Amino acid sequence: MPTRKRTLTGYRPTGKLHLGHWFGNLQNMLALQQDYDAYYFVADWHAMTSLWADTHEIRAYTEQMVLDWVAAGLDPEKCTIYRQSDVPEVAELTTYYSMVTPMSWLERVPSYKEQREQITDRDLGNVGFFLYPLLQAADITIVRAECVPVGEDQAPHLELTREIVRRFNGTYGDYLVEPATLTPKEGARVPGTDGRKMSKSYGNAIFISDGPDEIRAKVMGMITDPARKLKTDPGDPDICPLQQIHKLIAPAEDITGWDTCCRSAECGCVAHKRSLIDGLSAYLAPFRERRAELAARPGYAWDVLADGARRVRPVVRETIDAVRRLVHVEQ
Ligand code: TRP
Repeated sequence: MPTRKRTLTGYRPTGKLHLGHWFGNLQNMLALQQDYDAYYFVADWHAMTSLWADTHEIRAYTEQMVLDWVAAGLDPEKCTIYRQSDVPEVAELTTYYSMVTPMSWLERVPSYKEQREQITDRDLGNVGFFLYPLLQAADITIVRAECVPVGEDQAPHLELTREIVRRFNGTYGDYLVEPATLTPKEGARVPGTDGRKMSKSYGNAIFISDGPDEIRAKVMGMITDPARKLKTDPGDPDICPLQQIHKLIAPAEDITGWDTCCRSAECGCVAHKRSLIDGLSAYLAPFRERRAELAARPGYAWDVLADGARRVRPVVRETIDAVRRLVHVEQ
């Protein structure tokens, strides 16, 4: 059997997964686990770079993330699911990268600049936050991943990873693998209930573990076409977040049905909201059931992570041993 290509991606454990994760990235991760040697990890150190003053929730979020992932269809038999902090070799590799990386490369990472400017309720002047992209480069290269499925927002981190790889290889010898970015074909941008990009920090997210009552409350409060004031006004589905979410879950004939009905002002937004509530509740029901089953098994998530850590160990040992030889710290 030809060896499968290796892929890796990580999520920061900062809360429950929502529809934006599911349509933007998670579905793609499910597809990749079939044909790739896939490594999916919980980036708890990355979460800590911004939550450092209050770390106690990261553990609970880590557990929830594993339950969400497996309930959504990641199969711990097919892919390797592990926790970053269970692989201390990542921190060692970050140290070597900190030797070859000029400070100016990190200062010009767009997400770093933006977040330092925009996030004012937390202190992000810590060195850990500055090193975020180096740690990410270590995550990727420690398993020698050939491709990384991530959204557009992560492209600069991937580019920086490639630059570090080239500089490391140029300095010490050609060993590290340059990872390619694997942007999903239809990395859907999912609108939140207020029409902005769905994000936990905007408070506009529908979580994949939400039950019918939560779904009802959130969908009833959604904005639709802002120009449509009266039911008799024709609506424009192209700018309606309700319609955009509906499109992701509904059969094609329903989508055209609602589209025509909205444009001709034959049906109103409330009726459409009711239909989306039923549609979403049904769409997410199997996920909720599966998640409840897993959550009822004591220690399940931690067992998955322990098994993943055991499986990733030989891979990272091979990298770190080779790197140690190249930088002349081998024993
Ligand atoms: N920075 C990523 C995010 O915020 C999380 C992450 C950490 C990651 N390490 C990674 C993603 C390695 C891909 C590969 O979503």
